[in-house]
Amino acid sequence: MKIFCLIALTLVSSLHVSYHEGGDDWTDTCQNGTLQSPIAIRDSESEIILVNTTSSIVLYPDFKPNFTMGHMTSYSFAVYSDWGNLAVAFPSKPSINLHSSAFHFHSPSEYTLNGKYFDLEMHIVMKNPNVQGSLYVLGIFFDVNGKTNNFISQVIESESNYTDVNLMDVFNGNSKIEKFYEFEGSLTTPPCTEGVKWFLWSEVQDLDESQRNFFHKFWAGNSSFAGNNGNNRNLQERNDRLVIKYGESDDMSIKLEFSVFLLVIAISLYLS
Ligand SMILES: *[C@@H]1O[C@H](CO)[C@@H](O)[C@H](O)[C@H]1NC(C)=O
Ligand SMILES: *[C@@H]1O[C@H](CO)[C@@H](O)[C@H](O)[C@H]1NC(C)=O
Ligand SMILES: *[C@@H]1O[C@H](CO)[C@@H](O)[C@H](O)[C@H]1NC(C)=O
Ligand SMILES: *[C@@H]1O[C@H](CO)[C@@H](O)[C@H](O)[C@H]1NC(C)=O
Ligand SMILES: *[C@@H]1O[C@H](CO)[C@@H](O)[C@H](O)[C@H]1NC(C)=O
Ligand SMILES: [Zn+2]
Repeated sequence: MKIFCLIALTLVSSLHVSYHEGGDDWTDTCQNGTLQSPIAIRDSESEIILVNTTSSIVLYPDFKPNFTMGHMTSYSFAVYSDWGNLAVAFPSKPSINLHSSAFHFHSPSEYTLNGKYFDLEMHIVMKNPNVQGSLYVLGIFFDVNGKTNNFISQVIESESNYTDVNLMDVFNGNSKIEKFYEFEGSLTTPPCTEGVKWFLWSEVQDLDESQRNFFHKFWAGNSSFAGNNGNNRNLQERNDRLVIKYGESDDMSIKLEFSVFLLVIAISLYLS
């Protein structure tokens, strides 16, 4: 695992990722892909909303704290460790465990929710150890509201210095995630590989202005990074891909139960 992390770290650090054009000048799959990330998420366009959590999937993060160090890569601020697992629980089959060894940040956010960009977006990168090449990302939004985020404080303290970082603290006391979006997408940096399963937690987390400025100074607040662009890729076409919203009651929530059933089966098959 240690060797894998070192290789991953080296690869990430040596890649040159330019945000001068917001990624519009990236080539290959970044240009010709059809399931690219990020996209604009709109509740009015989400294909279906599942209100009953006993009949939809639920995320159970179970990450371990670790004494570790965060640092800049060529395009982000990343914190590496053997973080542990997030369990994806299905209503009627065994859960799967996704393993994480890294998380990193984008500022401003890459995805938008109902037309809004957030000050910060964190990506917890995961894979299913039983499925070679599988990639999953859990995205978490933060927005300045004057409240200090305890987890982000830990991340900031870890800059170039070993400190205790408890990844569970990002969930702010929640032991499970029931409100989230789920869809197919890609890496948001070259080579923009597709086949990435995205989860986006729909509950936006606290951030204070000085915490926002910690990230801002690397990217949008740094004219030599990308001419005051952030390290967020421009929005990509959704191309009719399905975006599922879980766990939130809404006027639009009641749809045909049979199609819900079919969807859950389809997702379960995909994830297994
Ligand atoms: C898209 O780009 C990749 C990488 O260059 C290439 O392998 C693939 O054939 C291209 N696909 C299409 C449909 O042009
Ligand atoms: C949720 O679904 C389960 C199983 O289908 C059912 O037993 C339960 O009554 C439902 N709960 C609500 C609040 O609809
Ligand atoms: C902390 O991370 C290191 C490096 O990934 C790993 O070897 C170690 O087991 C981890 N410690 C704990 C307590 O998880
Ligand atoms: C590094 O972290 C340790 C432990 O939290 C702390 O005592 C020390 O002051 C930090 N050093 C710097 C340069 O921030
Ligand atoms: C600003 O960006 C340049 C180019 O990427 C980088 O070398 C420098 O360290 C950045 N400054 C800060 C404060 O991160
Ligand atoms: Zn990312």
